[in-house]
Amino acid sequence: GVICEEICGYCKCFLLILRKTIFNMDLFTIVTARADYEQGALVIIDQTQLPGREVYLALKTPEEIWEAIYLLKVRGAPAIGVAAAYGISVCMQKVNEVDDFYREFARVKNYLASSRPTAVNLFTALERMEAALLKCQGAGVEVLKQVLREEAEAIRKEDATACRKIGEYGLSLLKPGMGLLTHCNAGHLAVSEYGTALAPIYLGQEQGFGFSVFADETRPLLQGARLTAFELQKAGVDVTLICDNMASSVMKQGWVQAVLVGCDRVAANGDTANRIGTSGVAVLAKYYGIPFYVLGPTSTIDMDCPTGKEIKIEERDPAEVTEKWYTRRMAPGGIHVYNPAFDVTSAELITAIITEKGIAYPPFRDTFRRWKE
Ligand code: MRU
Repeated sequence: GVICEEICGYCKCFLLILRKTIFNMDLFTIVTARADYEQGALVIIDQTQLPGREVYLALKTPEEIWEAIYLLKVRGAPAIGVAAAYGISVCMQKVNEVDDFYREFARVKNYLASSRPTAVNLFTALERMEAALLKCQGAGVEVLKQVLREEAEAIRKEDATACRKIGEYGLSLLKPGMGLLTHCNAGHLAVSEYGTALAPIYLGQEQGFGFSVFADETRPLLQGARLTAFELQKAGVDVTLICDNMASSVMKQGWVQAVLVGCDRVAANGDTANRIGTSGVAVLAKYYGIPFYVLGPTSTIDMDCPTGKEIKIEERDPAEVTEKWYTRRMAPGGIHVYNPAFDVTSAELITAIITEKGIAYPPFRDTFRRWKE
């Protein structure tokens, strides 16, 4: 898709039709986040309304973009980075005074960076946008706007290209007919194109690997039930939805030969933050002797973060646990609720970390250093 997009629109069209007819991949026609400069908006698919409704939102102000990220209307580590990059670019197109440009950029950047603390991609994307601007000090306002548009597009394209490579490396570790288990959503909706943890599954689907996939529902926001189940089903993959507390049961019955998960921030020693519940799946995989693979772009590796202990874990509204999704509140009023959005899987539980640059095995640090040079 990425290569064709650069060649011509006809090729892109042909590829989409091919995917739709042969591989049933009409899923890829859904666009997670894009900039519409004519409308002056960041356009996202509202992931909180999936799978019931495919609704696109046009977000025009920093406040609307902040809220969409905070409320997980756009979510998934790389997608948050792409949305923030497009978002700040769109907002800055409205600034016409060069004297105000850098000040306003810093204000919007700090504001968007405060929307969610754990996924490093949000910060790296905003830092990249700033670095691109700083290279152009002294340039006119139109040049600065153009630079932001180009950098945001480059971030999205690099993500899409990385996904394809991650899929290829991931698939090299899998065999036809395997049972796979995944947690949360690290697919097309969380990135672009093939996603990360789901990339080997989509590639395998195209190549007739015949995987059977178990999708954890992923309490409390149900990204597995609403998004992964939706994505994989739409792509024609054999997918079975399970509650989070059923993972042990399906593993014990010998139905899972590998676990594939995404990541929000990987520390320099390999400790990995991902959606809450991931570390429990890793402990179970170790117990049952099942390989546990983390898949993500190298932009998710944070060499400034020595171990998982330094990763800031987002805590969210207790109502996500007590009442969201229920027709009436399910817990007693006034109950104390702990609702962390992420947990950290210790590096020792991870069989391999798969990026666009290759496969890292423990100890991870040296490979990461080489990749991040
Ligand atoms: O809170 P979310 O839905 O943004 O959490 C998402 C995850 O944990 C994903 O696994 C991670 O961002 C990787 S997405 C390629």
